[in-house]
Amino acid sequence: MKIEKQVEGKFGVTVTGFDATSASDDDIRTLKETVYREKIAVLKGQKLDPKQFLALGERFGRVEPYYEEIYHHPEVPQVFVSSNIQENGKQIGVPKTGRFWHSDYQFMPRPFDLTFIYPQVIPQKNRGTYFINLCAAYQALGEDLRTALAGTQARHSVKRYFKIRPSDVYRPISEILDEIEERTPTVSFPTAFPHRSTGEPILYLSEGFTLSVVDENGTEQPALLQQLLEATGQLDQTFSHDLIHLQTFEQGDLLVWDNQSLVHRALHTSTPEPAVSFRVTVYDESAKR
Ligand SMILES: [Fe+2]
Repeated sequence: MKIEKQVEGKFGVTVTGFDATSASDDDIRTLKETVYREKIAVLKGQKLDPKQFLALGERFGRVEPYYEEIYHHPEVPQVFVSSNIQENGKQIGVPKTGRFWHSDYQFMPRPFDLTFIYPQVIPQKNRGTYFINLCAAYQALGEDLRTALAGTQARHSVKRYFKIRPSDVYRPISEILDEIEERTPTVSFPTAFPHRSTGEPILYLSEGFTLSVVDENGTEQPALLQQLLEATGQLDQTFSHDLIHLQTFEQGDLLVWDNQSLVHRALHTSTPEPAVSFRVTVYDESAKR
C-alpha cells in the first residue's frame, strides 16, 4: 500500500496497492489515521461488488444504513444509491443527491464519522465533488469571529433539502413538514467543537442543513451565521474560494473521507449525464472523545 499526497487539489491523498479483500488490520488502522489527518483518501483501482463494498466499510466501524429506504440498494440495504438511471423502467436509488453544501447526517443526533463513496457510472464532463475542510475554516477565522461564536449553538435540520418521495405525491406540504420534524427533530451542536478523534476544532456549519446560530439566551444570530458561512467559502457561487477543494475521480476510485470535519457538495451539470454512485457510512466506535 502506497500513500501519496494528491498532486491536484488542496488536500487529500491517493492510495495505490490497497486490496480491500485482503487488507490487514494494520492497513486499515493506517488508512483510518490517514483519513483523519489528510481528510480524503482516494483508493485507486478498486473492483468490489456491493457486498464487498459493505465489508470494507465494516472494517472501519459500525455501518449505519440510511434512515430513508428509497435510497437503499435492492440487495444490500446498507449501501446507499445515488442514481439518475432507470433500470427496466424502475428508479433505483435517488437522483440528484447532495447538490448543496452539507455533511452526511448533519441533521441527526450523531453525524457519521466516515463516508465511503464508490462511483459506478461516472459522468464524462464536470465529474467531481467539492469539499471544504471545516478545521481549516476554523483556523482561518479572524479573532473577532472566533470570539463571536464562542458559547453559541448551531441548529441543523434536513427540512430544506428533504427529498419528496413518490409516496408523498398529493400530500399537503404542512403534513410532510410536520412528519420531518417528528422523525428528525432539529438538532443543536456547539458552533465549533473538537473532532472526536483528532481534537482539532471544527467550525460545524453547512449552507444546506444549518438553520440558525443561537446565542446563550437562545436568540438567533442570522448575521453571525451569514458571516461564518461566508468565511468557510460555502456562499461562493464561483467555487473559487481558497478553502474549496475539487475532488475528481475516475473508474475504480473509491473515496473515503472524514465526514465530521468536511462539508461537500456534488457537482451536477445542467445537462444531466448518467451518474451512479454507491455510498457506505460508518460510525467509528474507536473515536476517542
Ligand atoms: Fe453527502
